[in-house]
Amino acid sequence: MTIATAHARPNIALIKYWGKRDEVLMLPQTGSLSMTLDILPTTTTVELTPAHEADTFILGGTTASQVETERVTRFLDLVRELAGSTTRATVRSRNEAPTAAGMASSAAGFAALAAAASAAYGLELDSRALSRLARRGSGSAARSVIDGFAVWHAGVDDETSFAEAVEAPPMRLVSVAVNAPRKKVSSRDAMRHTALTSPFHSAWVDSTARDLEEMQAACRAQDFTRIGELTESNALRMHAVTQSAQPAIRYLLPESIAVFNAVQELREGGLEAYATADAGPHVFVLTQPEDASAVSDALASLGEVRIAGPGLGVRIEGQGMSTQESGR
Ligand code: DP6
Repeated sequence: MTIATAHARPNIALIKYWGKRDEVLMLPQTGSLSMTLDILPTTTTVELTPAHEADTFILGGTTASQVETERVTRFLDLVRELAGSTTRATVRSRNEAPTAAGMASSAAGFAALAAAASAAYGLELDSRALSRLARRGSGSAARSVIDGFAVWHAGVDDETSFAEAVEAPPMRLVSVAVNAPRKKVSSRDAMRHTALTSPFHSAWVDSTARDLEEMQAACRAQDFTRIGELTESNALRMHAVTQSAQPAIRYLLPESIAVFNAVQELREGGLEAYATADAGPHVFVLTQPEDASAVSDALASLGEVRIAGPGLGVRIEGQGMSTQESGR
């Protein structure tokens, strides 16, 4: 195959990844746990172009910037190294998620690119190998390879740092897209800056490792209340640690805080809901399926609401089964 198309969706971490122990191999300081969403898919086609001297990257129908293209080329170099190829490629990608607004489009983007590129270059990767490869493009992409709920094991080296599926009770995430400008600091730069300058960063790493253990136990016990509590407090700690960096990085805007406050009021009124947010102003609210419409209606005046359920991990078009289902 010299052309392949893959589809992937964003994921939202319930226990966050925020800090790397190895920036080249993209090894995280802690493991994390997420839900892959069933909305906002990214579709990426990789076509080998033997006559070209450079890769081409077309994002949303227009030629991407030099910086974006270089990031894709660095990723394709990893795939080419695995495949023993020097052939350049054209990458066409479209995503429905607002890019760089904290809707996790880089996770879907690199999961789709990893799958499409490995297929186009003739590699046959199982789910673990695909997750490891996607991780090299963007850490959180390791989790978008997986269906539903995924735990990304921090690992100690390239081989041991990958995501795999975990059992969890039925849940929904209500996304609340607040009316806000494009984010200014990328997750990558912000997590490096936080680790270097926040006196609280090591406490974040220690407490997140504990949160992950507890979250996995709560998922096994199907304890939605505990899952929700851990989700909200871990998110607030991540935002606290970014705000304690020097200079501070603030992703949550007044509009985002209003959603966190409204969610607390919903809980006080007896509706179980818990808020989280990534490196941007949008908020995602975890609920049980039967409460999703009520939560979404209650938050509709604070932003554009959408209910997401657990979605599929990455799929290569024309291959009926995912690599994880086929067990390769
Ligand atoms: C806040 O995966 O985008 O969404 O690995 O540098 O590409 P890089 O960062 P990225 O960071 C995601 C940060 C987060 C938390 C999470 O998804 O776990």
